[in-house]
Amino acid sequence: MSERIPIASDHAGFEMKEKISAALTALGFDVHDLGTSSPASTDYPDYGHPLAEQVSSGEVARGVLMCGTGLGMSYVANRHPHVRAAVAWTPEIASLARKHNNANVLVLPARFISEEDGIAILKAWLDTPFEGGRHETRVGKIELDEAE
Ligand code: RB5
Repeated sequence: MSERIPIASDHAGFEMKEKISAALTALGFDVHDLGTSSPASTDYPDYGHPLAEQVSSGEVARGVLMCGTGLGMSYVANRHPHVRAAVAWTPEIASLARKHNNANVLVLPARFISEEDGIAILKAWLDTPFEGGRHETRVGKIELDEAE
């Protein structure tokens, strides 16, 4: 069975979301598009929270968010326990976000990267495994309730 991947954006990420959705589908993923569904102005938390809840609860393993800078969506997603949302603007950063930080949400800064870049960043994030080891210890200290 195909892995289900939720995606969501605000208006600033809408066009890139359509490209990312097509790329994920072509790669064989079961894409769950949580909106927004047009370029009309929206509030990014309305779309980021539902996606982050799915990752936080374990309903899905990972998801992809987009907004203009990537920052607002990352703030929203990282409020949720067990979510590690990484803004990535190059494939190398996406790869390091997986290797070192076990990022389970990718956030794309749609207004600052090309669609081609977005797809290259997506592929790097999808394909790179977590390295574990010393990074496992560090990632384990992120959650406040587990570090105390
Ligand atoms: C929308 O104009 C923009 O503020 C939003 O997409 C995002 O960049 C917020 O962090």
